[in-house]
Amino acid sequence: MIGAKLKIAVLYDVWGEEETPEVVEEKTPAKKKKKPKSKTRREKEDREEIFEALEKLGHEPFYQVLDGTPPCLTSLAKCGADLVFNLTESYAGDDTKEMNVAAYMDLMDIRYTGGGPHAHFLAQDKATAKKMFAFHGIKTPFFATAYRGRIEHAHDVEFPLIVKPVWEDGSIGINADAVVNSVKELMQRVEYIQNEFDSPALIEEYIEGREIYAAILGSYETAQPLPLVELDLSRLPEGTPKIASHDVKFEKDTPSYKLTKSHLVTDLDEETVAKLQKKGLAAYQAVKLRDYGRIDMRLTPKGEVYVIEANPNPWLSSKQEFMMAAKASGRSYTDLIGEIVELAMARYSAPASRTEGAS
Ligand SMILES: Nc1ncnc2c1ncn2[C@@H]1O[C@H](COP(=O)(O)OP(=O)(O)O)[C@@H](O)[C@H]1O
Ligand SMILES: [Mg+2]
Repeated sequence: MIGAKLKIAVLYDVWGEEETPEVVEEKTPAKKKKKPKSKTRREKEDREEIFEALEKLGHEPFYQVLDGTPPCLTSLAKCGADLVFNLTESYAGDDTKEMNVAAYMDLMDIRYTGGGPHAHFLAQDKATAKKMFAFHGIKTPFFATAYRGRIEHAHDVEFPLIVKPVWEDGSIGINADAVVNSVKELMQRVEYIQNEFDSPALIEEYIEGREIYAAILGSYETAQPLPLVELDLSRLPEGTPKIASHDVKFEKDTPSYKLTKSHLVTDLDEETVAKLQKKGLAAYQAVKLRDYGRIDMRLTPKGEVYVIEANPNPWLSSKQEFMMAAKASGRSYTDLIGEIVELAMARYSAPASRTEGAS
């Protein structure tokens, strides 16, 4: 199938967007989490870019939308695509349901790009992913979890700590108050996370250092790290913790957004670069990411590397970190999209015993 013209569904989710406003109103259960507007906006951009790249590659792309209603699932099952380019990050506004979307496609025998249900589960459940990193000897900050009186911990944790929802991404719930320096601040923040997100709080040692991203491309055995990208947080205002908060990532009008910028890493010695890439690759494999993924890391002033989290299916906008890394490796945007398609297709024609499997 590789090299052939494929019918590719560019699958994306909408919630509270123009497409189905009346459905959204009726079906919103109280506990559903609405994604921030900026997240929804950004998807529109990458799906269009991917669509164009697929056309350039000679494929036959079409849009397929998940609007959170039962008919959208039937429509997906019947869409007749050779491959789904999976850009979904939620189902019916619930961003913990990425794994269910992948699992549904597995059930329906639909081929798709990126992580399987297990990878999405581990990306959502940061505490479990951290246990897997530890098993593989990959350094990750010591942590505890707290949820409605139940505390889980294995190590002593020392201040400063960062408190975040276990089950979220996109820096939801992560702002300047997330970094705490006292028991009082810690308790307040844990309560906030539980009440606001109905999620256990992940209480993690705060690692001071540079924020480095390793973009990884490939299947389990052949995965390779691309050139490293840094999110430079050094210009954040005095007194603001140097973290990729929600403002830094999405709120274009805030000083935090304006004062931070990603760039290729060019000033680190070869040994440190190799160490970061090796850890990134190990983390990618430990949580069974597929096709493409981004590992968020911290590099301390002493040169220690901590893995913060693994992201399956990272944002593929041409302006974002993954493409920045791909470009530095000599790939055009179209090359990158074509490679992801080929990696996904190759997985489905490979023997089922392969470690990362087709689920
Ligand atoms: N233990 C930590 N030490 C230092 N900074 C952290 C730590 N955990 C998270 N951060 C900061 O918060 C940001 C978001 O945290 P992350 O766990 O990656 O959540 P998300 O899934 O929302 O991206 C990170 O990119 C980093 O800047
Ligand atoms: Mg992150």
